[in-house]
Amino acid sequence: MTAAKIRSELRFILNGEDVALRDIAPDQTLLDWLRLSRSLKGTKEGCAEGDCGACTVLVGRLTPAGTLVYEGINACIRFLGSLEGCHVVTVEHLAASGDHLHPVQQAMVDFHGSQCGFCTPGFVMSLYGLWMQTSNPTDQQIETALQGNLCRCTGYEPILRAARAISSYGGTQNDPLLVERENMFARLKALADGARVEIGEGRNRLIVPAGLDDFADVLEASPTATVVAGSTDVGLWVTKHMRDITPVVFIAGLQELKSIAVRDNVVTIGAGVTYSEALAMLSQHVAALGPLIARIGGQQVRNMGTIGGNIANGSPIGDTPPALIALGASLTLRKGAARRTIALEDFFIAYGKQDRQPGEFVEAVHIPVPAADDKFAVYKVTKRRDEDITATLGAFRLALAADGTVAEIRIAYGGMAATPKRAFAVEKFLLGQPWNEKTVETAMEKYAEDYTPLTDMRATAEYRGLAAKNLLLRFCLETTSSAAPVQVSRYKAA
Ligand SMILES: Cc1cc2nc3c(=O)[nH]c(=O)nc-3n(C[C@H](O)[C@H](O)[C@H](O)COP(=O)(O)OP(=O)(O)OC[C@H]3O[C@@H](n4cnc5c(N)ncnc54)[C@H](O)[C@@H]3O)c2cc1C
Ligand code: FES
Ligand code: FES
Repeated sequence: MTAAKIRSELRFILNGEDVALRDIAPDQTLLDWLRLSRSLKGTKEGCAEGDCGACTVLVGRLTPAGTLVYEGINACIRFLGSLEGCHVVTVEHLAASGDHLHPVQQAMVDFHGSQCGFCTPGFVMSLYGLWMQTSNPTDQQIETALQGNLCRCTGYEPILRAARAISSYGGTQNDPLLVERENMFARLKALADGARVEIGEGRNRLIVPAGLDDFADVLEASPTATVVAGSTDVGLWVTKHMRDITPVVFIAGLQELKSIAVRDNVVTIGAGVTYSEALAMLSQHVAALGPLIARIGGQQVRNMGTIGGNIANGSPIGDTPPALIALGASLTLRKGAARRTIALEDFFIAYGKQDRQPGEFVEAVHIPVPAADDKFAVYKVTKRRDEDITATLGAFRLALAADGTVAEIRIAYGGMAATPKRAFAVEKFLLGQPWNEKTVETAMEKYAEDYTPLTDMRATAEYRGLAAKNLLLRFCLETTSSAAPVQVSRYKAA
């Protein structure tokens, strides 16, 4: 393999300015750098864990399809190293000329969308990201865009009114970011010189590989380095747990890890595909995954977080692993030039232990599309509907024989064991049985053979055990009755 050209400088664009950094720590967050090194204090720190949105900025990046997209992200958990080749836009850029406020800002002023003002720049940036995509958003689009922004003062209604009124303050056609799009596209393209970025020495190193093969080389040579994709897990290791994550390899910009392909009824997703990027394709092929993804974090987290990261992290309460295990997904792991593919359920060995060798990484996940007659559902139980971590999550895929008995069933749960885990005893009991409420009520007794859930701050063991059983019952009722499934919707009619 040809050795990559190495550059010891990180390059990106901040608002209108070219930035080149040679002396940065691998775990330096964008938020700290903006506020402490650049005195751009419009971007606030509220929670430092991706929950409140006070630190929202837009990041523009070139996509594999050759377009330039801008997305809201949480600067508090995004590391500088992941911004190589990107355009960072802060709230200061919106009214850069100083003559007048941006339409989003003016609407927030006129509709009293700001009281103490601490959350306001974050709301403005989230609304700005939405407004660039659509100037007349529906209430549902507004709520989705603001899912990751918290306000303790306004009660949200004035912000929603402001959001609905933005387009009456000016059209997107005059917006500087859109007017300058071609120019910015050219500037970002010029930054992509195909070099590996390597800054610092020894443990204190930050590496942005030049491409996928280079990443494989880098990780094989430095197997103890922390791989950082969207940093929505790793960011908190630094901001909340003060963990030393050095040296760090940043892979968010690797285009080869961002492919999504469908072949022979299998959707293959590169490990670097974010939730936002996967949403449309996954919803199209496995409808139940759409609502699940829509409840992972807020929009900013979904714009950064990857399915590969959700799997590689190995958490027992990650949302996608149980759903993908129920679907029969497999994983391609790569070390150097060698690849192997394993069933996803075999990847999770024990708490904090996955079947991943030093120097090996997750390259892609393969998700079989259920047959047209198959039934598939996934239910996430949390204390609040949005932006909350799972207490328990059940995923179910069922194929019935012509006589109504269970021909095939896969059941997997999160939050019920030390890893995402299949309910083998329940499945075994159900096979060949008539698929009805009576069978399921007997099957519920088998849960004790599969799971011994824990009590923690999210739920008691008793609650988890009961909820898990009831999710199977819900699946049965939804698949045997002609009544529409119960879906709790938080959106008011427009
Ligand atoms: C506010 C907030 C809300 C959240 N809500 C949810 C939720 O509702 N449900 C949920 O499941 N999760 C949630 N998360 C957790 C997180 O968003 C997900 O786990 C996400 O998928 C992690 O992906 P990432 O790309 O950000 O991973 P990172 O943080 O970059 O990495 C996570 C782990 O995976 C490893 N890794 C990443 N990519 C690879 C790779 N290709 N090969 C090998 N190792 C790799 C890293 O080394 C690290 O160990 C939330 C996080 C935040 C901050
Ligand atoms: S400071 Fe709260 S999300 Fe970043
Ligand atoms: S205006 Fe005070 S937190 Fe939102």
